[in-house]
Amino acid sequence: MYIETVKLENFRNYSCCEVKLKPHLNVFRGSNAQGKTNFLESIYLSSIGKSPKTTKEKELILWGKDRAKISIKIKKQYHEQTIETILNTNINKSIKINGLNIRKIGDLIGEMPIVYFSPEEIGLIKEGPADRRRFMDIDISQINKSYFYLLCRYEKVLSQRNKLLKESKNFDILKETIDLWDEQLADIASKIIYYRLEFIEKIKTPAKEVHLNITANKEVLEVAYQGIRLKNQKEIYEKLLSYYRSSLRKDFDFGYTTIGPHRDDIEITINGIDVRNFGSQGQQRLATLSLKVAELVLFEKVLGEKPILLLDDVLSELDVKRCKNFLNEIKDYQTILTTTKFSRNLDEESAIFNVKNAIIEEKV
Ligand SMILES: Nc1ncnc2c1ncn2[C@@H]1O[C@H](COP(=O)(O)OP(=O)(O)OP(=O)(O)O)[C@@H](O)[C@H]1O
Ligand SMILES: [Mg+2]
Repeated sequence: MYIETVKLENFRNYSCCEVKLKPHLNVFRGSNAQGKTNFLESIYLSSIGKSPKTTKEKELILWGKDRAKISIKIKKQYHEQTIETILNTNINKSIKINGLNIRKIGDLIGEMPIVYFSPEEIGLIKEGPADRRRFMDIDISQINKSYFYLLCRYEKVLSQRNKLLKESKNFDILKETIDLWDEQLADIASKIIYYRLEFIEKIKTPAKEVHLNITANKEVLEVAYQGIRLKNQKEIYEKLLSYYRSSLRKDFDFGYTTIGPHRDDIEITINGIDVRNFGSQGQQRLATLSLKVAELVLFEKVLGEKPILLLDDVLSELDVKRCKNFLNEIKDYQTILTTTKFSRNLDEESAIFNVKNAIIEEKV
């Protein structure tokens, strides 16, 4: 799958722009504050249904205007598809696939799968576990819609359990009433954990191989799920229930649920050393890139279509050799990459676009 055209009207700093993309590498090159990241954001929004940067959709509309539109034409293996997103200042956005309005974001997710990486995503390694969970959650949702709906239900049931914990005055009464919530929560949570374990299991070997290739066999990358690691969903369910029971006193004192998938993490090591705490900037960045490449491979296997890779200014910290090896790993996937400078030779299915003050021109 690849994007053929992107058309923007009143989106961020673009008043009107149409770009025809190439099936392989598309380099968006330009000085700071010209509109490179904004362009990627429009694609992300069309795929995930929300911006990676803001929850305030008004911010996405060109200042002084009240309506913005993004139209994306995609070429899939057997058919073409259009995704249109219309943003308004005072009503909720609407999204159309092939001209038909979708009712919920779940209908959009997975239609145009993307793998996205921006400097903020380095948080995946460096920052708290919340970023690493977000990485898993967005990406598993794209290949497994029921996972997306499980997450929505989990949030609801979790907040109801937390409300009960916070509002209960008497521990003994709480003990009697919380069982029903615990069973519901454990049921959803065990499925989430099961899918996450399966996801990590599937990306860990390709990530390790890609990382070895890029680092010329110098670095062994290992990833593992940090949480309950049982193979069977029923066992995870039982374990969670027993945890809820044994930590109820603590949960009651804190006023929220202290265990479960909303607290889990991913362990990432290079040559046995925890990259989260001890990796260099370049190592952290490359570890994340290797995970992203592993996802490309997994998405393709599961969906039968190649996903699109969006890279916002991420090559600057890689040395020349690693950068070249990395570009070689992703050469078969449509990649849209932003950078302030780029001067490599490209194949004919690739192109460099100069971005200047919201005007995009292909370099010829
Ligand atoms: N709603 C909006 N309307 C008009 N302009 C906007 C809007 N939102 C953001 N901008 C402007 O768009 C400009 C370009 O932003 P963008 O993040 O795309 O730059 P960039 O080319 O990625 O730069 P850098 O190389 O620094 O990352 C910014 O100067 C910002 O002020
Ligand atoms: Mg930028």
